[in-house]
Amino acid sequence: MPEVDISNIASPPFQAPRHVAIIMDGNGRWAAARGLPRAEGHRRGVEALRRTVRAAGEIGIRFVTIFSFSAENWSRPASEVRELMGLLRRFIRNDLADLHKSKVRVRVIGERQSLDPEIGRLLVEAEELTKDNDGLTLVVAFNYGARQEIARAARRIAEEVAKGAIKAEAIDTDMVGRFLDAPDVPDPDLIIRTSGEQRLSNFLLWQAAYSELVFVPTYWPDFDRAALEAAIREYQQRERRFGGLVAKTGS
Ligand code: FPP
Repeated sequence: MPEVDISNIASPPFQAPRHVAIIMDGNGRWAAARGLPRAEGHRRGVEALRRTVRAAGEIGIRFVTIFSFSAENWSRPASEVRELMGLLRRFIRNDLADLHKSKVRVRVIGERQSLDPEIGRLLVEAEELTKDNDGLTLVVAFNYGARQEIARAARRIAEEVAKGAIKAEAIDTDMVGRFLDAPDVPDPDLIIRTSGEQRLSNFLLWQAAYSELVFVPTYWPDFDRAALEAAIREYQQRERRFGGLVAKTGS
C-alpha cells in the first residue's frame, strides 16, 4: 500500500479546553537572539497575541487569560515600562474595534488604582464596549499579581465582616473565590508558559489549583496556532482527577 502523506491534513477536531491562560514569556530573549532591542520583542509579542486570540476563537476556547503586565514588572527600567504601557494603549486603540467585531468580550484583572488614568479609562472603555459580546472572553491580566489579588479579596471580606454583612464562620473557599477580580470566569483548565521557564510567577495562584501546566520552549513572539494546538494535545493526554480517583474528561 502506498504511504499516505498526512502532513497537509488538518488535525482532527478536538474538544477544546474551556479556559486557557498564558504566561507570554521570552520576548526579551527572542529579541536578544536576533540582536534587536527588547522593545521589538514586545512588539512582535503583540502580533503573537493577535494570532493566538484568533486561533483560540476558531478552536472553540471560551476564555483566554493573558499575563500582559505583572505587578512585579514595575521594577524593569522605566523605558521598558513605558514601552509596555504604550503597547497596551496601542493594542486597545488599534485592536478593540476588531475584537468587538469578532464578538470578543474583554475583561481586565489586576490593580487599577495606581495606573495612569488614561490607561484606566481605556481599560474601562474596552470592557464597556464589549460587555454584551458572546464570543471568546479575553481576560487581560494587567498590573496583576495573584498574591495581591488574594490580599484584596481578604481585605474586602474583612470590611464586610466589620460591617456585620458577613459572619467570619461563613468564609469558605467559595466565598473567597467570589471576591477575586473576575469571580464569574471559570478556573483555567490549561496554563501555558512559553520560553522554557517552569514556574507560575504569581499568576492566578488561587485559580490554578487544578489547572494542567504546559511549558513550551518557544519564545512568545514565535507562538502560533500550531504551538497552541500542540499544547492542547498535551493537555488532553493528561488525566484530570481533581483530587479524586476517577479521571475527568479533558475539557
Ligand atoms: C515577557 O517577556 C513578557 C512580558 C513582560 C510582557 C508581555 C507583553 C506582551 C506580549 C505584549 C504586550 C501586550 C499587551 C496587551 C500589553 P520578557 O520581557 O520577560 O522576556 P525575557 O524573559 O526573555 O526577558
